[in-house]
Amino acid sequence: MIRRLSSADAAAFREIRLEGLRQFPAAFGAAYDDESAQPLAWFAARIADHAVFGAFSVDARLDGVAGLMIPSPAKMRHKGVLWGMYVRSGARGSGLAAALLGHVIEHARGVVEEVKLEVSPDNRAAVRLYEAAGFSVYAREPRALKIEDAYHDTLFMSLRLTRPSRAV
Ligand SMILES: CC(C)(COP(=O)(O)OP(=O)(O)OC[C@H]1O[C@@H](n2cnc3c(N)ncnc32)[C@H](O)[C@@H]1OP(=O)(O)O)[C@@H](O)C(=O)NCCC(=O)NCCS
Repeated sequence: MIRRLSSADAAAFREIRLEGLRQFPAAFGAAYDDESAQPLAWFAARIADHAVFGAFSVDARLDGVAGLMIPSPAKMRHKGVLWGMYVRSGARGSGLAAALLGHVIEHARGVVEEVKLEVSPDNRAAVRLYEAAGFSVYAREPRALKIEDAYHDTLFMSLRLTRPSRAV
């Protein structure tokens, strides 16, 4: 079952978000140490700001999350950013991530013209997931992340949802 999360899901969201940041530091720009210091209200605010969708198991456990972040500056509000894609290890390989991504894209169609994301080139499952949904790579940043003295490149991918009304 996939649905948009509300502030009532903040505790479950905090738990799965911190699990992802702790277990897969190279998969996220955010750091576990920064977010684990935040209060519950901060996670409730992320759910509200970023339109976070959650996938629940039959016993109501939150097994996967993904959101759409829309930048606040008026000139950037035509594009959304896929945010926080994470599926717990035990729930992977069954298309859950693709289903979550589908919900985020469906939501994005109503509010933005394009979805962008950042992903590690080494993250084959995630790159495959995004390519299968129609995203394509438009840039690569060398040494985008530094994690304990190791540098990691980042791929920038985008999915155009509508034709631009006027090219500049
Ligand atoms: C990325 C992630 C969400 C994918 O979850 P998942 O449940 O495995 O995804 P799916 O089952 O929908 O599979 C996605 C695709 O990747 C493929 N895939 C899975 N594992 C793979 C691997 N190790 N190597 C290559 N492809 C892989 C699947 O076959 C599928 O492709 P297909 O539709 O052509 O068969 C999950 O691995 C995860 O949460 N990883 C840690 C956090 C993370 O990396 N988040 C993304 C940040 S950008």
